[in-house]
Amino acid sequence: MLAALTLLLLHLLSPAHAHGHDHDHIARNGLPDTWFQPRDHAVRALFARDDFPAVGSDAWTASLPPFTPDGSQTPDITKLPQAWVDAYNAAKAAGKIPSIPQSTTGGQYPNGLKADSPDICSSYIRCRAPEDHFNVPSGTLALNFDDGPTEFTGQLLDFLKTNNAIATHFVIGYSIQQNVSAWQLLLNSGHDLAVHTWSHRQLTTQTDMEVVSELGWSMNIIYLSTGGRVPRFWRPPTGDADNRIRAIAKYVFGLEMVVWNQDTEDWSLTETPPETTTDKIASQMNTWLNGPKDPGLMILEHELSAQSVGAFMAAFPLMKSTGWNVQSAARLVNTDGAYRNSAGPTGSVTAAKLLDFAGTGPSGTTGSTGNATTSGSASVVGPSGSASATKSQSTASGASGAGSATGSSSSPAPSSGATRLDIAGFNAMVLGAVAYMMF
Ligand SMILES: *[C@@H]1O[C@H](CO)[C@@H](O)[C@H](O)[C@H]1NC(C)=O
Ligand SMILES: *[C@@H]1O[C@H](CO)[C@@H](O)[C@H](O)[C@H]1NC(C)=O
Ligand SMILES: [Zn+2]
Repeated sequence: MLAALTLLLLHLLSPAHAHGHDHDHIARNGLPDTWFQPRDHAVRALFARDDFPAVGSDAWTASLPPFTPDGSQTPDITKLPQAWVDAYNAAKAAGKIPSIPQSTTGGQYPNGLKADSPDICSSYIRCRAPEDHFNVPSGTLALNFDDGPTEFTGQLLDFLKTNNAIATHFVIGYSIQQNVSAWQLLLNSGHDLAVHTWSHRQLTTQTDMEVVSELGWSMNIIYLSTGGRVPRFWRPPTGDADNRIRAIAKYVFGLEMVVWNQDTEDWSLTETPPETTTDKIASQMNTWLNGPKDPGLMILEHELSAQSVGAFMAAFPLMKSTGWNVQSAARLVNTDGAYRNSAGPTGSVTAAKLLDFAGTGPSGTTGSTGNATTSGSASVVGPSGSASATKSQSTASGASGAGSATGSSSSPAPSSGATRLDIAGFNAMVLGAVAYMMF
């Protein structure tokens, strides 16, 4: 770390850094005025690394939280990159993150607190906060699919390609680990990617640091798999967020929350009993698609089962014949699209970096210079073990709609002590955080 700091200092003293970090960069880079962090690309700094190992490679896998075949877990909060913890602490100290008690389940708060009070504004019970995205422009229909990637992703992508349509996929980190080839299909599809957490828990039931872990690791897997694209959007599992969760997403990670204005409940088609049927969805679609065009439609849909994908495919011809302008949700919600630092899924990523990593980068994986492996470990890796509850795979992938119970607290998490995370990647992030604090 000392060598890295020396290089960092030399770098800061170089003429290129004598000026140019004033605040007018903020607007130019499209960050909101209210953005807490006072310099450009602060969010990217949370993920900064300059190598992008091939998706599915050992180096890629080693950069993720350990896979837990017995069920998804919130990644161990004692092993969070220090940059995320620092960003959270700074936002908390600045008064940006309200202290709302954890819910017992979506919409249920202790001490008689009301989920619909303006201070809480639970999206689980459809309270919409001013910055929530749920409507889209008049005449447009937002394509969006939650809970991917799954074994049905391929079929959905084939259908969309045949029909020349692009969608936004709100993906689950754990589901990516479960089916990396489906993730490869998404990455190669030219579709937009957004965050749907790591383990699909109801975030209002979680502690602040668990929420940081859920959001950070799922942003990180998108960042790592797309050559460094920083996702702009997230959607809460089961629609469950409140002002505490909104603030962590916004002030730590710069994420904007996207919900919906119509719900098929298609996630439940494979539940017993289901909350809807394909006939009911067809009938709802008929009503919505033939209804008023202002606001536009953002219908919640899932790539979770053959039935949910089938219900979408059955409705698609009517979406076109009724004259809707069908677009990827991310591009309708914000014309700058799904990423903070790129115009889209292909093409360039903003090159600006906090640091010139040359010589100080993730050397543990490239074997070049420096010794990141030892210098980074103390800052980011804590003791093993976690307070997170395990959750069955079926719950992880199935608990998608309002009304689903999530996050049982019955069984302790297995120890993850045997799994080594990618310390080199962490070191790069720590370096980014140091620079972030020094600017
Ligand atoms: C992974 O997803 C792909 C594409 O959706 C699918 O063809 C494949 O069967 C899935 N694999 C498993 C093990 O589910
Ligand atoms: C990194 O440090 C370890 C432990 O001191 C050492 O064994 C290794 O050779 C070093 N690697 C490099 C690239 O300097
Ligand atoms: Zn979901």
